[in-house]
Amino acid sequence: MIYSKIIGLGSYVPSQIVKNDELSKIVETSDEWITTRTGIKERRISSGEKTSQMAIKAAQKAIKDAAMEKEEIDMIVFATITPDFFTPATASIIQAELGLKDIPSFDISAGCTGFIYGLQIADQFIKSKQCRTVLVIGAEALSKVTNWADRNTCVLFGDGAGAAILKSSDKEGIICTYTGSQGDLQGHLTLPAVPLKNPFLEHQEDNGNHSHIFMNGKEIFKFATRIMIKSISHVLDKSNLSMEDIDYVVPHQANIRIIDYVSQKLKMEREKFIINLDRFGNTSAASIPLAMDEAYKKNTFRPGNKIIMVAFGGGLTWGAVLVNWTI
Ligand code: ACO
Repeated sequence: MIYSKIIGLGSYVPSQIVKNDELSKIVETSDEWITTRTGIKERRISSGEKTSQMAIKAAQKAIKDAAMEKEEIDMIVFATITPDFFTPATASIIQAELGLKDIPSFDISAGCTGFIYGLQIADQFIKSKQCRTVLVIGAEALSKVTNWADRNTCVLFGDGAGAAILKSSDKEGIICTYTGSQGDLQGHLTLPAVPLKNPFLEHQEDNGNHSHIFMNGKEIFKFATRIMIKSISHVLDKSNLSMEDIDYVVPHQANIRIIDYVSQKLKMEREKFIINLDRFGNTSAASIPLAMDEAYKKNTFRPGNKIIMVAFGGGLTWGAVLVNWTI
């Protein structure tokens, strides 16, 4: 039996720290409101780094961590909602910068669940023996699509990148993957592309705020709590495991109240949830690999630990990956 396992992790965040008090100079808000409603204290904001540049730095660290030759990578899966271009895919820019030849490289768009979708794709390519080693990255420059005049959203997001190397193995690493989406809820979280305009249209489309994130926070909150519990329960059921068997949960870092709610409902100790949203905010597709890398580099995980990564995001999408930690 062939399995895939994570053999290396890396992450990168811009050095510029923006604290809540600085945001209260831009919009009508306060450190107190942001902290109590979200748990976020500060976030990293790009001072010029593009999504691809952050992704490359995270990928280089993951390659180094895996103690491998970069030429062993035979596919790049890149999750983002803030690509450098519509085309080329940001994965192509990453491939070129890493100096890798001929391998398939592509972007996926599944909002904040993008990294989970990426792990599932990589796992499937490895299990079907089409790849031996896959680089999966989640990176975002959300600051370029944040509406800095909208206090409902601008306090939530941050920039950053995280990467993982998956390799084929005869020992079980990834135990179970699960993803889903509900397109009829798409309108609750949107980031429109360019409007449809051409000389032959009778009515030119103009969506004004086309480059900004819109979010219906209350609906997303309700969805997130429901779907995180469903996703965790699903991977446990499929793996014949129970909550007691799980050592850590690495949730999408959106809001501490969502995580608190999930931990209470599942009766799972809060200490088992890896949290770094207080320092990085919501970095969308980067959030889980960033939190994974931080915990791993602090020696939080032990070989044999069972870890669940779980996310929700634009689409609306959701997913979870249950791993047996091996490094
Ligand atoms: N500062 C001060 N007041 C604010 C702010 C702010 N930054 N933002 C909103 N308010 C006000 C609102 O205007 C509202 O005022 P009103 O009652 O006078 O109208 C009041 O605070 C309460 O607003 P609510 O929306 O009810 O606040 P809530 O407690 O629901 O918190 C929040 C809002 C934090 C956005 C919450 O709904 C949430 O976390 N939702 C989920 C968001 C999420 O997970 N997003 C990520 C999903 S996908 C992705 O990662 C891209």
